[in-house]
Amino acid sequence: MDNINIIIFGATGDLTKKKLIPALFEIFTNDEPVEIIGFARRELSDDEFKNSFSNTGGNNEKWQEFLSSIHYHKGSFEDLSAFQSLRGQLQTDNLLFYLAVDPGSYETIVKNLQQSNLNPPQSRIIIEKPFGEDKQSAIDLYQTITEVFSEEQIYIIDHYLGKETVQNILAFRFANGLFEHIWNSEAVDSIQITSSETIGTEGRGGYYDKAGAMKDMIQSHILQILAATCMEPPSSFEPRDLHIARKKLFNALRIVRDEDTIRDTVVFGQYEGYKTEEKVDPHSHTETFAALKTYIDTDRWSGVPIYLRTGKKLAVHATEVFITFKKMNHHLFPHQEGNILAFRIQPNEGISLKLFVKNPGKEMEVQDVSMDFCYRDSFTISDNSYIRLLQDAIKNDRSLFTSIDEIVASWEFVAPYLAFKENHPELVIPYPPDQWGPEGSNALVVNEDRTWLSLYPYKCDINLTI
Ligand code: BG6
Repeated sequence: MDNINIIIFGATGDLTKKKLIPALFEIFTNDEPVEIIGFARRELSDDEFKNSFSNTGGNNEKWQEFLSSIHYHKGSFEDLSAFQSLRGQLQTDNLLFYLAVDPGSYETIVKNLQQSNLNPPQSRIIIEKPFGEDKQSAIDLYQTITEVFSEEQIYIIDHYLGKETVQNILAFRFANGLFEHIWNSEAVDSIQITSSETIGTEGRGGYYDKAGAMKDMIQSHILQILAATCMEPPSSFEPRDLHIARKKLFNALRIVRDEDTIRDTVVFGQYEGYKTEEKVDPHSHTETFAALKTYIDTDRWSGVPIYLRTGKKLAVHATEVFITFKKMNHHLFPHQEGNILAFRIQPNEGISLKLFVKNPGKEMEVQDVSMDFCYRDSFTISDNSYIRLLQDAIKNDRSLFTSIDEIVASWEFVAPYLAFKENHPELVIPYPPDQWGPEGSNALVVNEDRTWLSLYPYKCDINLTI
């Protein structure tokens, strides 16, 4: 088969520079020949385009070889003739399109691909998130794309699915008999997922101000982590079975319609200084922080509160999942706190289990200790999940991509919160950078006799080279 030609729309953007080119270099280094064509509006020569990337992966000889497989094609997304001239230059139908562009341009690009015969059966298309901006626009967008590409050619990306540590949640649950039978409401008190970032919008104000934390993180990445944590076992790891299992989970998320319940279970925040950032509306009510409490209405999770939290410019950079087990009421240790199992998704990936052991001495008292597993002690994993996802797309494997059904269900879940925020912009509360968001988010958990959990810093955060 011919070498794959990867055409990146939005080739001068941040995603291309920071993630896609480093991932493609890694793939190229592993002997997968690729030809890359960057498509963007700017007037650039091939050399100027190549020089905008820097080698982050070592081996300079390979890097020079890699650069010779990169080309630039100038064109605006509206200009059909730019697509037709691209078609004229391509020598193969083995094509992979990557839409690393503002979601507002998806439809235009897809239609122009069709008009210029750039949708042969061998081709596939990767589309970034957010896919649509609500349920209906996601359905409409999918409809437009399926008029051009078949379902099997469409790869809707959520890069969290490419993270080893997210995939590992499924392996951990289903390969360790110890846990699977206590993975339910009989044993579990509550579940928390926090994805906190220390960075702000990093020059992406134009996109972010239209999205906000709910669309940017919760509707996609955080719900995908939740799916891995809480889904029923899929029949297999085949794409269709995984899509079904995730969709079922999303459909079981409780959809709150009543305003008072929403008000009591969601907190929005915006970090101070956000409004003065480039391309951000100075009167913006976009949330850079969101925390909420929800439930999964299945037998397995009945009554178990699920707390989700994400934000930018927070105190710590960490994505973590906590499964808190119920308090023990053993006559020997009445009111003993519950054990906590935590997955550190990133950075310094690991798993930590909080246990209680006897405090040495003559009293029979216990103290909490943690059993920690740090990935770096056993494995080397990359923090660029686009490597795995691009490799899969090259090999026509859609297991780690999302399906339209999942997306529709996830939009249904977030819609009431988004509508509530639209109606109550005054409830987007300012918060100081480098802390944990608006004070009110604590009430979500404290009122229920719980606290937000954070592993940071734990063993894997500490440099152990002695
Ligand atoms: C992107 C969001 O999808 O994910 C960003 O648009 C966010 O706002 C990023 O910063 C987080 O990804 P990661 O892999 O750095 O946790």
